[in-house]
Amino acid sequence: MNFELLDLDVVQAGHEKCDVLLMLLSSNFKTGRSPLSTLVSKALKSGDLADKPGSLLDIYRPAGLACARLVLVQVSDGKPANVRKGVSAAIALIKASRPKQVSLCFDQAPDGQSLQVALSTLAAASYVYTATVSKPEPRSMALVKVGVPNRADMAAAFAQGVAAVSGIELAKEWANRPANHATPSHLAHAAQALAKSPRIKCKVMGLKEVEKLGMGAFLAVAKGSAEPLKFIELHYKGAPKGQPPVVLVGKGITFDSGGISIKPAAEMDEMKYDMCGAASVLGVFKALTMLQPDINVVGLIPACENLPSSRAVKPGDVVTSMSGQTIEILNTDAEGRLVLCDALTYAERFKPRAVVDIATLTGACVIALGGVRSGFFSSDEAMSAAMAQASASSQDLCWPMPLDDDYAEGLKTSYADVANVAGRPGGAITAAKFLQRFTGNYPWGHLDIAGSAWKSGAAKGATGRPVGLLLHYVLSMQTSAT
Ligand code: BES
Ligand code: MN
Ligand code: ZN
Repeated sequence: MNFELLDLDVVQAGHEKCDVLLMLLSSNFKTGRSPLSTLVSKALKSGDLADKPGSLLDIYRPAGLACARLVLVQVSDGKPANVRKGVSAAIALIKASRPKQVSLCFDQAPDGQSLQVALSTLAAASYVYTATVSKPEPRSMALVKVGVPNRADMAAAFAQGVAAVSGIELAKEWANRPANHATPSHLAHAAQALAKSPRIKCKVMGLKEVEKLGMGAFLAVAKGSAEPLKFIELHYKGAPKGQPPVVLVGKGITFDSGGISIKPAAEMDEMKYDMCGAASVLGVFKALTMLQPDINVVGLIPACENLPSSRAVKPGDVVTSMSGQTIEILNTDAEGRLVLCDALTYAERFKPRAVVDIATLTGACVIALGGVRSGFFSSDEAMSAAMAQASASSQDLCWPMPLDDDYAEGLKTSYADVANVAGRPGGAITAAKFLQRFTGNYPWGHLDIAGSAWKSGAAKGATGRPVGLLLHYVLSMQTSAT
């Protein structure tokens, strides 16, 4: 999706020629002497536009204005959360008419985060999946003009918002592709394509290298499928070599049937989305190529399918992870933690300043938090604070979850150092406790995106989350580096 940033105050917004003008209004709207200002003042005074974020007033062919349709959008304090509310309500209102030229204007100079949230909310509404559709519908709102009264000050924030949208859309694209069009090899090619940009390097390991590294847990998951596994390593080098990188580890199960502990048939197709963690890592790297920030970032993606076969790992099998810890695989459907644990051990070699893994890890997290917030687990205070900040400013929300040692009790077994599952209670937390055993000497965080990465039902599709969250988090490392 494309955006153009324009210098427009409220008077100039009235001259903006378009199918729909979305006029965002804050509580401290300053009335002026133009047809648009007069109209807005009257609407506010009469109460026809309520002072509640997300309130709308829809006007057809407003007198004295150049737009065909005007939608007044109340965003109250203009903070990211209210801009998101307002813009998504407005989009829901106008979407059915498939407007071609949409302009969105702010009455006041927005803060950078609010501008970015407006862009990502618009983009979310306009995305269309096309990859495997023979005659796809064209995308509505391919270009949106965004007007602010202080364009010169907004350039950096605008660039960041545009990059975030590109990253989110790349993540959606890969996540939405069916598993036969998004194999581990396809993901590896997508990563290699990113490496054509400056400052990016990509290395892809296959079976031989992964065996040599001793990634017994990853290998155990992959061996049930004829589709070759890939371990993808991306490097973004924007800072001197000595500066420790942030490492992002994305779960890349391109299809999760459950393996021998097979899943029920209903909605099993949705397990093509089990590589949304991996897709979010690709999305962040896409945004980094566009922004070229002064940081170092490493992306790790263990990618394979989880299928039943005569060669598949069986419930009760014990494998040795790269860390040396043995794991009793009591349920082959708890495969995400198995591919991630070896990647977390591998991450240690980069002497990272922080490691964040991103995974559609547990159905239990969907029950706990639904689709609104991703689950965030970390015992590192600085990372928790940075992630909470990134959550609020990106509006790609997450919520802190506990990591008390008592939650690890159920992972005990007589047959190995650890079992890969505990009971059903607290399933998102016991999964995180399993991962924590494999974290090295670095601050670690874990995002369980099982509820947030895609939508089911009529609106089935990937959300591109948590690319926005991760991008804000990673860029915040840039400012705290010195
Ligand atoms: N990929 C699934 C988690 C998942 C399930 C995400 C449904 C979104 C919707 C994961 O590999 C899995 O199967 N987890 C099991 C763990 C259990 C066996 C301990 C689960 O959540 O049922
Ligand atoms: Mn599974
Ligand atoms: Zn899975």
